[in-house]
Amino acid sequence: MLVVDPSAGVTEAALRARLGAKWTKYGADVLPAWVADMDFTLPEAVRRAVAWSAEHSALGYDRPEDQTDLFRAASQWIARRHGWEPDPASFAVLADLVQGMLVAIHGFSDPGDGVIVQGPIYPPFLTGIEVLGRRVVDNRLIDASGAGAIDLDGLRRLAADPRTKLMLLCNPHNPSGRVLRRDELEGIAAIAEACDLTVVSDEVWMDVVYPGHRHIPFATLGTQVAARTITLTSATKSFNLGGVRCAVAIFGSPSLRARFDALPARFRGGPNVLGIRATVAAWREGGVWFDAVMRQLDANRQTLAAFVRDRLPRVRYRTPEGTYLAWLDFEALGLDRTAAAYLLEHARVALNDGADFGRAGHCARLNFATTPAILSEICERIARAVGR
Ligand SMILES: Cc1ncc(COP(=O)(O)O)c(C=O)c1O
Repeated sequence: MLVVDPSAGVTEAALRARLGAKWTKYGADVLPAWVADMDFTLPEAVRRAVAWSAEHSALGYDRPEDQTDLFRAASQWIARRHGWEPDPASFAVLADLVQGMLVAIHGFSDPGDGVIVQGPIYPPFLTGIEVLGRRVVDNRLIDASGAGAIDLDGLRRLAADPRTKLMLLCNPHNPSGRVLRRDELEGIAAIAEACDLTVVSDEVWMDVVYPGHRHIPFATLGTQVAARTITLTSATKSFNLGGVRCAVAIFGSPSLRARFDALPARFRGGPNVLGIRATVAAWREGGVWFDAVMRQLDANRQTLAAFVRDRLPRVRYRTPEGTYLAWLDFEALGLDRTAAAYLLEHARVALNDGADFGRAGHCARLNFATTPAILSEICERIARAVGR
């Protein structure tokens, strides 16, 4: 059997030398656990695909409208992993997911309209809605660092407003790590149906789901549900390809597609040929690598849960069901500034500031997709600053 160790050779010096945002934004004495990049080495197939493009001088323009290989690779990966084989003809290629989200907000709502999110939420959802002149309608999770439940009563009330036509769903949910159960998704779908909402379902975290939980693509709940759903996903979270700029949209009906396509093609950005090739290689040949990464992530998840329980007893934390993000609630410590700002100064670790996720400065998001050695050092530093 092929043995894959995604942490092999990954040292702090090697990570700093990669020049990515994660390891260069803060000083050399800071350990970063913020942006959702993993510290692991890339799958061999991805490295070969990128090297092939350079060796063959194959970096010319691509044809965004003709991405049969990409759409087939996407559909087959989703079929193998999630039991859903969307028709490759229902796909469109995007430069990135957030751009797809912005295009959908622009195309499926009007200025001044409400757009529903489940806060606290990945910050570009909030900034995207605001910058396009729409209103954030926050159907907040019930106790994001505890139960993390969907507030269906709240959703019913908010969705009843005729000026609210669109919902941005994020499942698995960033930052809570919730993987929504079928009954929760059906509850959301029933309200979307009753209130005629279009749903943009961000499923970029679809694969990063731990044992005992299962990702259910929203569009698989039924043909009526699919007909109001645009699913957005990519290989970026599962395969550590955040910088390559390639994502896909899957349209649940021709009319959704027609409305999306009515916008100028350039408005939704041009994907990158390297990104397309890397993504195809990942989805076609990356399964063994990904399974090895999941084993490491799950071990890290357990390490972190034990650490918070034993060393940070006043921090509230719900072990994530999916994602490699930990949503830590420091409210009981009564810190004099946001938790992330406090930890940056006193622990020299860089976490994402909960304030950016909407009214949650007492929380901080920790990315645990790193080597056991680095994770352990991050934990020790936090314990020295605020624990025991
Ligand atoms: C929920 C969610 N959506 C989208 C993205 C980013 O996607 P992209 O880089 O393709 O815009 C992320 C990245 O972490 C994310 O967590």
